[in-house]
Amino acid sequence: DPNTVNPRTLPPFRAIPTGQADTLTLPTGFRFHTVASWGEVFTLDGREIGFNHDFIGYFPIDLLEGGKSSTEALLTINHEYVNALFVGGDTQNRTPAQIEAEMKAVGVSVVRVRKEGREWKVVMDARNRRIDALTDIELTGPVRGSAAVKGATLVKGSVGNCSGGQTPWGTLLTCEENVDGYQAAWAGSGYEAMHQGWVTEIDPFDAAWMPKKRTAMGRFRHENVAITVAKDGRVVGYMGDDMQDACVYKFVSRGKYNPINRATNRDLLTEGDLYVANFGNGSWVLLDYDKNKKLQDAKSTDGKALFASQADVLADARASALAVGGTPVDRPEDIEIHPKTGEVYVALTNNAKHGNYFGQIVKFRETGDDWTATNFLWEVFAVGGPQSGFASPDNLVFDPYGNLWMVTDNSDLATNPIKGYHGNNAMFFFATEGPNAGQAHRFAIGPVDAEMTGPVFSPDGKTLFVSIQHPGEDSESLEKLRSNFAAKPGSNVPRPTLVAIEGFPGWRA
Ligand code: FEO
Ligand code: CA
Ligand code: CA
Ligand code: CA
Repeated sequence: DPNTVNPRTLPPFRAIPTGQADTLTLPTGFRFHTVASWGEVFTLDGREIGFNHDFIGYFPIDLLEGGKSSTEALLTINHEYVNALFVGGDTQNRTPAQIEAEMKAVGVSVVRVRKEGREWKVVMDARNRRIDALTDIELTGPVRGSAAVKGATLVKGSVGNCSGGQTPWGTLLTCEENVDGYQAAWAGSGYEAMHQGWVTEIDPFDAAWMPKKRTAMGRFRHENVAITVAKDGRVVGYMGDDMQDACVYKFVSRGKYNPINRATNRDLLTEGDLYVANFGNGSWVLLDYDKNKKLQDAKSTDGKALFASQADVLADARASALAVGGTPVDRPEDIEIHPKTGEVYVALTNNAKHGNYFGQIVKFRETGDDWTATNFLWEVFAVGGPQSGFASPDNLVFDPYGNLWMVTDNSDLATNPIKGYHGNNAMFFFATEGPNAGQAHRFAIGPVDAEMTGPVFSPDGKTLFVSIQHPGEDSESLEKLRSNFAAKPGSNVPRPTLVAIEGFPGWRA
C-alpha cells in the first residue's frame, strides 16, 4: 500500500518491468490523460501548441499573490525541434513555406490550465501565447552589442529549447541547446546561430515584457539551469553543456534577490560571474577575461588569440572552460538541487566516444553548504547499466520529500547495447536516503520512439506533468508510422503531447 511506505525511502508504487507498448505505461493505481498536443489552438489569436514538447514550467496561477495553486496554473512548454515528416511535411527540400512552418512550431508555449473534475484542461486566456523562432528578444549582459553577436542588441527567436528552469520571482528560463543546424536548414530566413545558444528569460505573467537572453550565463549547448538563492541573497544557477566531453557551469548573480521587488529581480541575471567545474580538485574556476591570464593567452591551433574580451569568453564558453581547466564530462544533461540537503545532482547521460553507453548520475555538495562557494566535494549517486536497469539519464526532478525522479533518453544511440533489453524510454524513482538510496525503480514507460521530458509535480504532489516528446520519430513515412500516440480522432499521426499523471498519494510532509 503506497500510503503506508516511508515516503522518503521507498517508492509510492510497485515498479514495472521494461516494455515496448505504444502508450504511456504506468503502475497499478496510476492513470494519465492528455492535456496539450501539438497543433491544438490555444491562444485568442489562433496560435497552435508547438512540436516536440520538452521542459514544463509550472507557475501557480496565484503565484504573484503568494499562492501555490495545485489546480490552476500557467504552464510553459518548451518545443525543442521539429520533424519535417510531421511539421510542414516537405522532407525533401525546405521551401519558404516549410521553413516558416518549422520556425512557428519551435520555441515556447505559455498555456493556462485548470483541473476540472479528474482532468486538466487548457483554458483560453489573454496570457496564452507563443514565443517562436521569429519573436523579438533582447540581448542583455556583457555580450549585448559586441562583435561576437555582430553588434546585435535585439534578435529573432529562441530555438533548441530543451530543458530549463524557473526563477523564485516567477519567470521561465528556457535553454537553447542544439542550435547549430538551423543556419543551413533555414538559409534565407535571417537566422543567426550566434544569436542562439543562450538562456532566455520569459515572464509567463507579462506578455508585454520582452523576453531577454542572459549572455552573462554564457553560450554553449544549454541543457538546463537549476536556480537557487544563496545565503547572502545572490542568485545561483547550475548549468550543463550537453555535448561529449563538455563541462558543468555555475552562474552567480552580482545583485541580490529581493522577495518583495519583482521588477528588480527580473534584471538579476543580467550581470554576474560564470564559473566552470573542475572535478579533478573540486573547484569552480572563474571565467573572467580580465582576471584570468589563461584566457588572455589562449590560442587556437593556428596560433591566433582565442579571445579579446569578456564578450568573446562568454560567446564561446566551451573553449573558455577548457582553456582554464574545466573538466570535460559525459554529456551533462539535467541538473537539480535536492530540496532538503542542497546537494546538486547532475545527469551525465552517456559518452559514446569513451564507450560509456549507460551514463551515470553524480552529486556534489558545496563547501559550507554555500552555493556561492568555490570548492565542492562530489561522488557518484547511481550508475546506468544492466545491473541498475537504466541507461542514459536525462531530465531530473525532485519531489518535496527529496526523492529523485529521472527519465531516460536512449534515442540517439544507434549502437546502444542496452537498447535490446531496456525497451522504450522509461521514468525511474530513486530514494536519496535510507538503504535503497540510488536504486532505480521503474515507474513509467513511454510510447514507441518517444522520450519523456520535462517532468514537474504540482505543488500538492498529486499530479505529475510530463511531455511525451517525438513519438514515432523513426517512422520512414506517413504510410509506415511506428506510433499513433495521441493522434487526432480520424488520424493516425502521432503527436508530441503534454500529459498529466494522476494517482499519487500527495505530499503529507
Ligand atoms: Fe535536448 Fe540534451 O537534451
Ligand atoms: Ca535533455
Ligand atoms: Ca529538471
Ligand atoms: Ca538526451
